[in-house]
Amino acid sequence: MVSLAAAALTVLLHFVNGDKGIIRSPSGIFPRAADPCTAVAGQKWVAPSALRACFTSFKVDPEIKANIVDVVNKTLAFHTSVNYELLAPEPFTADVHEDLLADLARISKQEYPSDFDLHVDMSRTLKRLNDGHCVYTNACYDSAFLTFLPTPVVLLTDSSGAQNVHIAPEAFAVASAEFSDEIDVWQNALPGALKGELSSLSGAKVLFINGADPFDAVDANAQITGSFQGFGTRQNSFFSSYNRADAGWMYIMGNFAQMSLPLADSATLTIQRVNSTEVETITVNIWTCTHISAHDR
Ligand SMILES: *[C@@H]1O[C@H](CO)[C@@H](O)[C@H](O)[C@H]1NC(C)=O
Ligand SMILES: *[C@@H]1O[C@H](CO)[C@@H](O)[C@H](O)[C@H]1NC(C)=O
Repeated sequence: MVSLAAAALTVLLHFVNGDKGIIRSPSGIFPRAADPCTAVAGQKWVAPSALRACFTSFKVDPEIKANIVDVVNKTLAFHTSVNYELLAPEPFTADVHEDLLADLARISKQEYPSDFDLHVDMSRTLKRLNDGHCVYTNACYDSAFLTFLPTPVVLLTDSSGAQNVHIAPEAFAVASAEFSDEIDVWQNALPGALKGELSSLSGAKVLFINGADPFDAVDANAQITGSFQGFGTRQNSFFSSYNRADAGWMYIMGNFAQMSLPLADSATLTIQRVNSTEVETITVNIWTCTHISAHDR
């Protein structure tokens, strides 16, 4: 992984310098407009929309943008990915074909509503290499705050051999162990008779995600998650899994339930709960945790 320290540093400076505090005008000095970042400061859990309002309040500084593109361009010269991933050899030819120099030329010319939008484009552009080595991160945005749903999903095979997307059977146990201080908020946001019954969602079959086949969401995530050349491996990133670490088994929430950026506010799931024939559509709120220790990232 390449951490572009220079680019990250300039953006940090941008955050400091961006808050000039006062605006001078011919008639005198008056306070600047309210800073949307104050709404998230000091809170442990915030709505993703509130964090997004903070992130998107920073306009693109043309000088810093040019610096980021320049540093990335010069750093990429050390990577074979630039040439190799133009058209990856078999068996990944169909999966990777990214022309980074053309991308950087496009990004240089493109206008962005905010510095955050520029960041998302830079990050996804480098992720499309799908090589797990050459990535672009900005410590101001990526995983500075983590965004969660209490319903990680898995792919389960039933007794007839059919595979379906399900809310992980262990979802409630994991969510209540990891997010004990937030679980009531999720519980109370569930609709109607499901209010307070988050545990009853564990294991439910997921028929639709946001009104579409669950694999539409799986495949859309595979396009932006990066890290692995094979499409099937990137599909797996959507789902929760376990990882063997020094301290024992670690639970991985998967890209559906854990996001590094606050881009969505809720997920609508059409589900069939365990031992039920009823099809229910629920909306689960997504929350961003701002106090994640470095260890948890
Ligand atoms: C990236 O570097 C190459 C080689 O020096 C140069 O030709 C190209 O114009 C640069 N691209 C951008 C967007 O600055
Ligand atoms: C579903 O039904 C089976 C068989 O009756 C039972 O063993 C199981 O505990 C039930 N599961 C839930 C979540 O209700």
